[in-house]
Amino acid sequence: MLTEQDLLDKGINATLVRHPLVQHKLTLMRRREQSSSAFRALLREISWLLCFEVTRDLPLESTAIETPVQNMNAPVLKGRKLAFISILRAGNGMLDGMLDVIPSARVGHVGLYRDPDTLQAVEYYYKVPNQMDERLIVVVDPMLATANSAISAVHRLKQGGATDMRFVCLISAPEGIKAFNEAHPDVPIVTAAVDSHLNEHGYIVPGLGDAGDRIFGTK
Ligand code: PRP
Ligand code: URA
Repeated sequence: MLTEQDLLDKGINATLVRHPLVQHKLTLMRRREQSSSAFRALLREISWLLCFEVTRDLPLESTAIETPVQNMNAPVLKGRKLAFISILRAGNGMLDGMLDVIPSARVGHVGLYRDPDTLQAVEYYYKVPNQMDERLIVVVDPMLATANSAISAVHRLKQGGATDMRFVCLISAPEGIKAFNEAHPDVPIVTAAVDSHLNEHGYIVPGLGDAGDRIFGTK
């Protein structure tokens, strides 16, 4: 697994979430024998922590409140409109955790699958909230492999008016981060791990296999 220094040395730009609970839970998820139900629960829990990281710079304002002891001015979120966009199917495994933390967020879905031969993203569904240009958009998908899916989803969202986006994933490949940085230099990436490389089928090595299949128990 690459460190932040390795990333800098290779000229690739992503925020690595090193929190020990994230790293521990990710290791549990990677294990071949992990059940789908445990995999889903772990992904949901890691997504809480990734949600805290990707929203760490949300603006605050001060509001007057009364505690049981005295009055005070206390910080609250400044009311920024936010939308989570899930890249189907596997993005939905992260969406649940994100919504646990910010239940008032709007939700959009971009349905994409990777053609197994060309590894190109094929769109089959697109539905997002209105006023995309006024929202902070957080795009979620556990895997950033070639990045064809994420690049295509973000491109589509920009066409729909989105200007302020972040992309959050669980595991990424150096090749994918590089391609995404080149295609969308304005969209920061938050990831829990940068693995070694892609294999000949475009799977992340060592990775965790097919995230959608592991979440939903398909194959
Ligand atoms: C997986 C994953 C990403 C994509 C990543 O989806 O959830 O969307 O692959 O690969 P890429 O970076 O090379 O595009 P998949 O196509 O398997 O669809 P699924 O979520 O419906 O299983
Ligand atoms: N999609 C996945 O689900 N896993 C990978 O390793 C690559 C793409």
